[in-house]
Amino acid sequence: MLQRTFHTPLTHRILFTRDAFSPTNDAVQKLLCVEAGPRRVLALIDAAVTAEHPQLLPQIHAYQQAHAEVFTLAAEPLVLPGGEACKNGLEPLMQVFQIVHEAHLDRHSYLFAIGGGAFLDLVGLAATLAHRGIRYIRFPTTTLSQADAGVGVKNGINFFHKKNWLGTFSVPHGVVNDAAFLSSLPEREWRNGLIEAVKVALLKDAAFFHQIEQSIPALRQRAMAALEPIIQRSAELHFHHITEGGDPFEKGSARPLDFGHWAAHKLEQLSDFQLTHGEAVAIGLALDVTYAELAGFLATAVAERICRLIRKLGFALYDERLLQREADGRYALLQGLHEFREHLGGQLSIPLIRDIAQPFEAHEMDDERILAAAIRLREMN
Ligand SMILES: NC(=O)c1ccc[n+]([C@@H]2O[C@H](COP(=O)([O-])OP(=O)(O)OC[C@H]3O[C@@H](n4cnc5c(N)ncnc54)[C@H](O)[C@@H]3O)[C@@H](O)[C@H]2O)c1
Ligand SMILES: [Zn+2]
Repeated sequence: MLQRTFHTPLTHRILFTRDAFSPTNDAVQKLLCVEAGPRRVLALIDAAVTAEHPQLLPQIHAYQQAHAEVFTLAAEPLVLPGGEACKNGLEPLMQVFQIVHEAHLDRHSYLFAIGGGAFLDLVGLAATLAHRGIRYIRFPTTTLSQADAGVGVKNGINFFHKKNWLGTFSVPHGVVNDAAFLSSLPEREWRNGLIEAVKVALLKDAAFFHQIEQSIPALRQRAMAALEPIIQRSAELHFHHITEGGDPFEKGSARPLDFGHWAAHKLEQLSDFQLTHGEAVAIGLALDVTYAELAGFLATAVAERICRLIRKLGFALYDERLLQREADGRYALLQGLHEFREHLGGQLSIPLIRDIAQPFEAHEMDDERILAAAIRLREMN
């Protein structure tokens, strides 16, 4: 047996900016200049983004002309449907492959994806598979993707009717968080990223949790000045976790960032994705916080404070699917926990907290107590 452990350096980059494609903004240029040219770029854009920001296509052209010495466009920027539907099945993936092929992109070319988390997951998967990996730059355009998903190193699509069944881990060449995109989001989407900020604050940063609490009145008015620093801090905390947490490609069974997510994934599935990821995570967080309180890990006042914040941000704490029963009478939620345990290979690992910013991994969850927590949320909601 020949055996040697070797390391290949990985660099993760995030830029925080506004109006990335205005001619004087140097964020994109900076990212492209990390490596020597010539640089060919193909930009793929989520249709919901161009619908709300019709100036984007001419801006990309003007930006290229202003930086012609830095890059060329391999083909016209292309607008494709985004949203969860673009992750369902192989057809959209094949379409991206076809586009990449026709534009003659090679391993040294750059694929830009501008869109929501779903669109980035799709284009990112295509970018890591075509030619075994084309350089890929993400431009997340939703609060959730800027605060969490877009900052990560995962790509994927849904397959066999299972979420993210087909996917890759890969560090993108860069991520550009452009705050100007966020103003056009519908109410539900605007709110979604805030819950991932609450989640990561509960795990890692008590001062940040307090900052979110203080921002409630402004957030309720959709004040961008309050939203932007929260999304940015959330992205930073996720970024630090990925680059310093020791397990960026999730080889171990612990998912320390997935607080509130075991129940959320089940709820999303039970609702046929009528609940957004953010809405499901809000309920999942409330459930795990209430569970931690009932189990004696977390003080009642802290649990109530957290649930109050979630509520004030405009999220529900409860959904009737939490207590939904399957045909055989079993609770679907408990079945979700069972599936999750199987997925982890038998040993549960659920992040919980003892206080704000004091996380630990629980290896057992009591069924009766989970149901009691759900009933408590039904009363509080
Ligand atoms: N890769 C990861 O690490 C990771 C982590 C968490 C979640 N995810 C994935 O991210 C996806 C959810 O992402 P999302 O919350 O961004 O949802 P989304 O991508 O479905 O976007 C929500 C909706 O908003 C539209 N939209 C996007 N930008 C807009 C803008 N600026 N103005 C108006 N409308 C806009 C989209 O077209 C879509 O219809 C899920 O598929 C989830 O699995 C990935
Ligand atoms: Zn999440």
